[in-house]
Amino acid sequence: MECFSAPDFDHHEQVVFAHDAASGLKAIIAIHNTRLGPAMGGCRIWPYPDEAAALTDALRLSRGMTYKSALAGLPIGGGKAVVIGDARHIKTPALLRALGRAIDRLGGRYITAEDVGTDPTDMAQIAHVTRFVTGISRDGSGGDPSPYTARGVYHGIRAAVRHRLGADALTGIHVAVQGLGHVGSALCEALAAAGARLTVTDVDAERCHRLAHRLGATPVAPDAILDVDADVFAPCALGAVITPDTVPRLRVAIVAGAANNQLATDDLADALKARDILYAPDYAINAGGIIQVCHAYFGNDIPVDARVAGIYDTLLDLFARAEHRGINTLAAADGRASERLTNG
Ligand code: NAI
Repeated sequence: MECFSAPDFDHHEQVVFAHDAASGLKAIIAIHNTRLGPAMGGCRIWPYPDEAAALTDALRLSRGMTYKSALAGLPIGGGKAVVIGDARHIKTPALLRALGRAIDRLGGRYITAEDVGTDPTDMAQIAHVTRFVTGISRDGSGGDPSPYTARGVYHGIRAAVRHRLGADALTGIHVAVQGLGHVGSALCEALAAAGARLTVTDVDAERCHRLAHRLGATPVAPDAILDVDADVFAPCALGAVITPDTVPRLRVAIVAGAANNQLATDDLADALKARDILYAPDYAINAGGIIQVCHAYFGNDIPVDARVAGIYDTLLDLFARAEHRGINTLAAADGRASERLTNG
């Protein structure tokens, strides 16, 4: 297994392999960049097929966090911890504390939070052995970032509608939402309250019908959501929903949603642009969660509501920059984030 010459290695500052025989911990902590502040990013517990896959994920996700936080104007860098194994079987207080000790040894260069396979109660375990953990509110209750992510996506959709359709309000704007979990359902509430028309789907059919009934939305089967003739497609389920096969199917003017890694490959940003579909870069529009998590850690120095609402201006700026330079919106986001990293 290679590290420095791995395809996803991108000048990462530090990669730590942490092992604890007693609890069975096998973890990789990747610190990508601390130029703007300590690296912050979630802890993922996942049954990776092999160690190389875990390293790839740690390298890729930590780099993504650097860009996301830089673009959101946060005083933090990018990092990620991945633990190899099935959370249902390996997750014990002893393992979490062993991970916490490994994080503590980094002296604050990496601050962890929840991600796939971990939740606020796990963060509370880790907090027994290190203070470099967030995602738990200061009073010990849950620190779910989803409402903030949903709020940010809502503001991002407003910006995309403003730029692409020239409308200041969402009244009558038709949004097709894929995935009605923590973020998708809260997003639907906000959109419905703003007068948008909703078509919705979820693989959990009962969840879909319940929400559709409550908000007066039109439910469709999971596979049909990509073919809906609407103004906006909002992916809020899994990543890689935009592929060479799905781009030609889209009948929308805008793709703007919460899911991470929406594009199967970066070049699909050009394919969307070629179809005159405005793409709101995922890591720009879904930054509400990291803004809240950062706020939970640093306190009131981070004005959380204003920063989340600021996603509207960030996206307008990216759209204008992309148009002005004739580049796709993802390239515009990467460029802006790189500038912040260089200039501080
Ligand atoms: P969740 O797990 O609560 O909800 C996902 C929903 O999508 C579930 O209801 C699931 O049944 C549904 N789903 C899965 N596959 C589907 C498919 N093929 N078609 C239709 N529905 C499908 O997850 P959550 O927290 O709402 O996150 C949604 C997305 O946003 C994820 O990609 C996540 O990585 C991303 N994200 C979430 C943040 C947060 O604060 N929760 C922050 C940034 C990104």
